[in-house]
Amino acid sequence: MCGIVGYIGYRDAYPILIKGLHRLEYRGYDSAGCALISQNNQLSIYKAKGKVADLEAETEGQDISGTLGIAHTRWATHGAPSAVNAHPHVSMNGNITLVHNGIIENYATLRQQLEKRGYEFKSQTDTEVLVQLIDFQKNLRQCSLDEAVRYSLKLAIGAYAIAVIDRNAPDRLVAARKASPLAIGIGEENSEFFLASDASPIAEYTKQIVYLNDDEIAVIERGQDLQVKKISGQLTEPVVKEVDVDLSMLDKGGFPHFMLKEIFDQPQVLRDCMRGRIVNNIYSSATGQAHEASLDVVLSAVKEHRRELLSARRFIIVSCGTSWHAALIGKQLIEHFCRIPVEVAYASEFRYSDPVICSDDVVMAISQSGETADTLAAIQLAKQQGAFVYGVVNAVGSSIARNTDTGTYIHVGPEIGVASTKAFTGQVTVLTLFALALGQYKGTVDQQEYQEVVQELTNIPEKIELVLKQNDKIKELAQKFVDSRNFLYLGRGFNYPVALEGALKLKEISYIHAEGYPAAEMKHGPIALIDENMPVVFLTNHHRRYQKVISNLQEVISRHGSILAIINEGDNQVKGMVKDYIEVPQTLSCLTPLISVIPLQILSYHVAVARGLNVDQPRNLAKSVTVE
Ligand code: F6R
Repeated sequence: MCGIVGYIGYRDAYPILIKGLHRLEYRGYDSAGCALISQNNQLSIYKAKGKVADLEAETEGQDISGTLGIAHTRWATHGAPSAVNAHPHVSMNGNITLVHNGIIENYATLRQQLEKRGYEFKSQTDTEVLVQLIDFQKNLRQCSLDEAVRYSLKLAIGAYAIAVIDRNAPDRLVAARKASPLAIGIGEENSEFFLASDASPIAEYTKQIVYLNDDEIAVIERGQDLQVKKISGQLTEPVVKEVDVDLSMLDKGGFPHFMLKEIFDQPQVLRDCMRGRIVNNIYSSATGQAHEASLDVVLSAVKEHRRELLSARRFIIVSCGTSWHAALIGKQLIEHFCRIPVEVAYASEFRYSDPVICSDDVVMAISQSGETADTLAAIQLAKQQGAFVYGVVNAVGSSIARNTDTGTYIHVGPEIGVASTKAFTGQVTVLTLFALALGQYKGTVDQQEYQEVVQELTNIPEKIELVLKQNDKIKELAQKFVDSRNFLYLGRGFNYPVALEGALKLKEISYIHAEGYPAAEMKHGPIALIDENMPVVFLTNHHRRYQKVISNLQEVISRHGSILAIINEGDNQVKGMVKDYIEVPQTLSCLTPLISVIPLQILSYHVAVARGLNVDQPRNLAKSVTVE
């Protein structure tokens, strides 16, 4: 989704802005632009439909001087992707320039009012209304840029992160946020400041970062302390955080695409995710009994908040997309190990469904980006209604992380490919740790099973490595399906959410229609679709439901479905039934998703590559969905 970069300081802004835009490319966008104010107060604006590289081509041979600038990648909402609709937008008199993430919901009314006062508009965007409104307020009140921004935002309804500059105030950059993230990096002795939608464009310059809160406006000036005020006008003390982003994680590391790198990252990032959370234990924390060479799960958030968690009457997990699939697995884990009922809701539905939320409910939000607008709104609603809110988030310091009562980071590093891969396995790993830790406090986990699962969790990275070794075989199999129009993914129990996830991965990057189904549900309708042209990915590697899954497999074979089976190593029964299969190492039933999702990720990747598609930035998709 849209990305903002800004710079004010002593260096040339242009290279910093462009590099920053490249860092934000992963969010997904369809046009880009930048604005620079040069030493003689000249404002230069460049925009291009397409990629940041197209913007760079546009600026070739042009004046790109200036130590103050703002830049943007746009993901179209109001108005088609085009250079005209791309940001920055500029006020009619050419003085004020603005970039914006989010949506101004009352833009039509504001536009009408401004048009009545003689303002003319060039684009179809909601954003242009904001810049004209700021100009109008500035002239009306004869005030500073930041005050004009403040008065304008009081009139705007919706979500925004904005960066604004004025060629008549070349020492000032103004930024504001409501429900859309914005980070400000502070250079040495305030000599320069960096602004961005997340820390990745800032990290190589400074670790000192201030995350703006909702309804805050930042006034940024070279050599001055950062000033932050509320939309009410009241000054507030900015909280400076030390943020460490591993920049090597932002590169492809020799892989052709971020998605493939992130698939291959999984063994290591899952080790990182579990580090310090699975510990050797002499005394089991819950029972006080000595267990020889036993392992224990320690999650500090569960330990510190066990009172709220243990008194939960119910868990409600809110999330979207891939994170919602992880939630379906989390439900099975929490219900099994903690014996607490769990509901799973799409955040976008939950927030508008007038949900019954009780003060003894725990609402859990799962989000990779930590910025998904619907998930953020769902937890705000839950908090208003008195529920305790727990976050399972990847992006450190993100809005969801900051708005939850407590939580556990999945710590899998920045995920750049739009299709989520390592975040999914990180989420499932954390949900497993969470269920084990809470179940242990609750006394609902069988001790032998607890030890087996914790021990097996530590083996998972190695088992994923074995699946990754089959990359070439899966690539070969993928060629068979390049021209398929539809796919079915079938699984049961813990493999049912994996079937959904496999189908989502395929459709989002290869644009092939795919559906996931519980394998037994198929005969209640979808079985009518099955013939020799319908590829069916069958997840049979589930030992608890094995015989039942085999019966379902038989049903598809009888109707000549074209099957690709994911099977446990050495499963001669299925090998004798189907031509195409991928063998994966056996694991415990509840950990199956961590293994069986890997071949599905690899399969989607190779199908999309073979179809010549942009795997890392599929059409119409955004990495961080900051609009509802
Ligand atoms: C799919 C995908 C999306 C996200 C969804 C939620 O590959 O990435 O479905 O899972 O947009 O995003 P987060 O987890 O950032 O809240």
